[in-house]
Amino acid sequence: MNVVMTDIEIIKAQTTKIHDVDFEHLSFGKTFTDHMLTCDFKDGKWEAPKIVPYQPIVLDPSAKIFHYGQSVFEGMKAYKDVDDNVWLFRPLDNFKRLNISSKRLAIPELPEIFFMEGLKALLQLDRDWIPKKDGSSLYVRPFILASGNGFHASPADEYKFVIACSPSGAYFSGKVKVLIEEKYSRAANGGVGYAKAGGNYAGQFYPTQLAVDKGYDQVIWTDDNTHEYIEEAGAMNIFFRINDTLITGPTSDRILDGITRKSIIDIANDEGFPVEVRKITVKEVVEASKNGSLLEMFGAGTAAVISPIATFGYKDTDYDLPELDHSYGSVLKKRIMDIQTNKIEDKFGWRVKV
Ligand SMILES: Cc1ncc(COP(=O)(O)O)c(C=O)c1O
Repeated sequence: MNVVMTDIEIIKAQTTKIHDVDFEHLSFGKTFTDHMLTCDFKDGKWEAPKIVPYQPIVLDPSAKIFHYGQSVFEGMKAYKDVDDNVWLFRPLDNFKRLNISSKRLAIPELPEIFFMEGLKALLQLDRDWIPKKDGSSLYVRPFILASGNGFHASPADEYKFVIACSPSGAYFSGKVKVLIEEKYSRAANGGVGYAKAGGNYAGQFYPTQLAVDKGYDQVIWTDDNTHEYIEEAGAMNIFFRINDTLITGPTSDRILDGITRKSIIDIANDEGFPVEVRKITVKEVVEASKNGSLLEMFGAGTAAVISPIATFGYKDTDYDLPELDHSYGSVLKKRIMDIQTNKIEDKFGWRVKV
């Protein structure tokens, strides 16, 4: 798309909220920075993005987002290193995935320059909000919603692209207990599972609540057809370590192409861990747990990076994972976080300076 970027219009907030924030006790996604980026699609084109004070979005009750859920989003983070430089991790991959999601939801493609330059300008302006403490970062949420009006069930003629940011503290998931799902599905072949479509997550809430009611933290999604293959862990990709081999399922219509997942595969290969990208069955995991060869199981995603699973439940039985002193999960997590925060060399070229 041939779009030229002029200077981004910036309307600065009159006051800052930063002094009201307790940066030592941040809960995830509850505090927002002073500014946001907005960009409107009207008359068949995306207009130049603007940065404005963080504020509500006013929509007509007939806006299609409310009725047909035509919306997509991304999740990424900005990091500050010890010298106060600001970094993003593989941001172009988030941009590309946003457009892949948009295409599936019949949302017009966003120009790369609006995303990348808009994001960088917003982060420059709100850079004081990026926490520096170990494990802390600024969570960045780009999203697009159908703002066009009308009850007709068809794609909207107007959209809003917005980037909002939220400082977040170190993420400790604790000992996660998950339940392998036997009835509900997150995604189906030909569906929207590979897209970060808002409705995908709404559809997860009810089965997840049922699992929480039974004492679990999260659901492990299985394939919609047979429920025999393991696909994702909540809103994360999933990895298993059986003996010395790290295994994760291949991406598909039903499995999101996670940026953390593909980074883990590259780092594990670089560390010399044997890696297999292949389908994995519930049966194989249960048997590996019974014979002691299942050593690790973890979720992988931007928010937690790696979230180790302590126990999984399947057909009324709970299976505990061993506690390891030197887990693959901890090695991989440290290496990714050290790359993200400019502590070590980035031989993969993933870090982008803001
Ligand atoms: C369904 C789903 N799977 C996996 C992931 C992990 O993706 P990433 O590593 O890009 O955050 C996410 C989060 O974005 C997700 O929503």
